[in-house]
Amino acid sequence: MAGRSNVGKSSLINKMLNRRGVARVSATPGKTQQLNYFLINNEFHLVDLPGYGFAKVPIDVKRQWGKMVETYLGRRDNLRLVLQLVDIRHAPSKEDVEMYQYLAHYGRPHGIVVTKADKISRGQYQKHIKVIKETLKVLPNTPIILTSSETALGRDELWNLIEQHLIP
Ligand code: GTP
Ligand code: MG
Repeated sequence: MAGRSNVGKSSLINKMLNRRGVARVSATPGKTQQLNYFLINNEFHLVDLPGYGFAKVPIDVKRQWGKMVETYLGRRDNLRLVLQLVDIRHAPSKEDVEMYQYLAHYGRPHGIVVTKADKISRGQYQKHIKVIKETLKVLPNTPIILTSSETALGRDELWNLIEQHLIP
């Protein structure tokens, strides 16, 4: 699970596991500062990555996170799927675009997870998703899943996507 700070990575992991507080959540961006691994069914790990793009993190810490995440995404052979999370309310940032281009360029299997759907009205969904697709220049056939950690919207779809990417 990758994405900018505060996009809702940790919250989504909790929602997916149906448990509160497994992954630490905070209204203060920059909460997750390490790679946190959650072993699921003794079969695979969900990995909660530190968020990018949060200005208040000291520059040397930021650099260290960047390196850690980049090494992880670039070199991890058994990484099956990268989920890039973007907030439905905002056009993707420059860093979101860079992250997406990185995934697309290296051919990492990936999906876009749109978070916090509960924050806007349903009638606005498609308009916002269109902006996200266009700004990231999302490749055709890239799965895009709309989610909310408040309502559990998208949870089943997300598990299905993950399942498709696990080795049988
Ligand atoms: P970092 O660890 O800093 O990278 O952040 P994160 O991406 O893990 O975000 P986190 O899950 O900690 O959530 C950030 C804030 O957004 C918290 O206040 C959450 O309660 C809120 N939030 C997360 N997901 C949702 C959602 O689906 N709906 C709403 N309304 N709020 C959400
Ligand atoms: Mg987090």
